Amino acid sequence: MSLVNMKTLLENAQKGGYAVGSFSVANMEMVLGIIKAAEETKSPIILQIAEVRLNHSPLALIGPLMLAAAKNAKVPVAVHLDHGTTIECIGKALRLGFTSVMFDGSHLPLEENIAMTKEVVSLAKGYGAAVEAEIGCVGGSEDGSVDIAMRCTSPDQAKLFAERTGVDALAIAIGNAHGFYKEAPQLRFDILEKVAATVDIPLVLHGGTGISEEDFIRCHQSGIKKINIATATFAASEGKVREGYEKGEIKGYYDLHQKEIQGAYENAKKHMEIFYSVGKAE
Ligand code: 13P
Repeated sequence: MSLVNMKTLLENAQKGGYAVGSFSVANMEMVLGIIKAAEETKSPIILQIAEVRLNHSPLALIGPLMLAAAKNAKVPVAVHLDHGTTIECIGKALRLGFTSVMFDGSHLPLEENIAMTKEVVSLAKGYGAAVEAEIGCVGGSEDGSVDIAMRCTSPDQAKLFAERTGVDALAIAIGNAHGFYKEAPQLRFDILEKVAATVDIPLVLHGGTGISEEDFIRCHQSGIKKINIATATFAASEGKVREGYEKGEIKGYYDLHQKEIQGAYENAKKHMEIFYSVGKAE
């Protein structure tokens, strides 16, 4: 159990017909809540943080916390850098011991995305870590600071990209976007099925917040093996705290701390059930 390579987790998910939840964290309370849900449901999980969030939660502090939580967990946990944009930050995460990193070159011209991704793959190899990259453009941005236009993945480009870069997991754009959806997403399952038919490696779905249970299940039955959840966790923790204040249940700091953990726990547990990862850590 404990800290594992993301590649192994996703290969097991491919064989077992489920997806692994990749939960973004900002602090210790979220880590505790998500690990509690994973241990209780016996689910393998990924703990992740995006480079853009490190201005709130410095890598030198949150990184060792995530790694220690993974090492002490009773279930397999991979620790992942989400949306790495600089070699410098990716290198720091690898030196700390992260077991996977994402390089997000989705906004770059194809050849540049391939060249940079290959550089990250060769860097990560030295640390035995897995690499995720993105082809096409997932809408929005991880922290909502820029409104990136969604551009669906071309199945032919996905095949070429996977072959030329040697990445372990590939994030695709099929109508998904980061943050809360303004209207219900219309996922392009036709594109997902075409990509899955031509690309052997596990596929990744970003922008998990707001996707329906039915669509999640269809995604993980069609080749998506890693599903990213960020906004829903932050909202669940914050919402539980707000409700606690409204009901007069928070009398001091440690009540607040408990509510944050509870929010992250409930949200993670719900997603583990939908992803069919329950019991897969056994
Ligand atoms: P959400 O914030 O929509 O859950 O997206 C998470 C994500 O894809 C992080 O990379």
